[in-house]
Amino acid sequence: MSIDLAVVPVAGRGTRLLPLTKSQPKEMLAVGRSPVVQYVAEELHRSDIHRLIFVTGPGKAAIENHFDTDNELIQHLRETGKEEILQDLSFEREDLEFFYTRQRQQLGLGHAVLCAKPLVGDQNFVVALGDSILGVSAQSQVVRTMVEQFEQQGVEAVIAFEEVDPEEVVHYGIAKPKGDVDAVFELADLVEKPSVDEAPSQLAVAARYVFSSKIFNCLERTQPGKNNEIQLTDAIRMLIQDGGRVLGVRLPETERRYDIGSYERYFEAFAEFALADPDYGPAFRAAIEKLL
Ligand code: G1P
Repeated sequence: MSIDLAVVPVAGRGTRLLPLTKSQPKEMLAVGRSPVVQYVAEELHRSDIHRLIFVTGPGKAAIENHFDTDNELIQHLRETGKEEILQDLSFEREDLEFFYTRQRQQLGLGHAVLCAKPLVGDQNFVVALGDSILGVSAQSQVVRTMVEQFEQQGVEAVIAFEEVDPEEVVHYGIAKPKGDVDAVFELADLVEKPSVDEAPSQLAVAARYVFSSKIFNCLERTQPGKNNEIQLTDAIRMLIQDGGRVLGVRLPETERRYDIGSYERYFEAFAEFALADPDYGPAFRAAIEKLL
């Protein structure tokens, strides 16, 4: 059976977005008309992923509430003649199943993924970071391509990459490719947040991964690394050292990654999505032009 399961880590504190994230999850911040994590769920749904395991943490209950079917609200909208608004809740009716587990200690992204092990077992699965939107208007197809590559090539992992400016490498996992870099390429190694001088390329991990369950064994053996956290990047490295083949898939030219982890990126993403809004975009554009 093709992969239909994704782990969505949403446990990070969002400290770079304080005070906004003091009492609300960064994954619930609005980008245009939807919260970030809704775009992630819709992207996965379009890629035929129907079961989502959220790895949550303190203060993240709003995410669970957001994906509930709110019958009271639906009834209220019907009774007050606001049926047209029901369309805005259509994401509630998508055939997605949600599961939640908690990362009880903040030990890093690798540890968050490991928390899903009892629910994933020996299935192949996607990891989609809950604070990153992919593709213009969130229409990315990259997960579908990654799953196809994973299944056709019989590898242990496939990772999405985006080329970043040299000074940006310090924020991401960076690929060391084996041989030529085409749309799909093989990885020789991966380095978490290297310095500009140490970076083996400018290809940055772009928030989407496909794994076989072997990654759990590597995660269990991974010691704390960068920032004293158990890094997913280090476990992937171990997977390669153990002889596993790992592929990179570059985001196509037409796609972008919107990383909602800092104000710089957040403002940019909000403006781009608001400008592209079919109903409110033109008026927003006119308002912005007046301000400039
Ligand atoms: C994480 C990963 C990093 C990756 C980034 C964006 O970093 O550790 O390798 O490039 O997500 O996908 P974080 O943003 O959690 O610091």
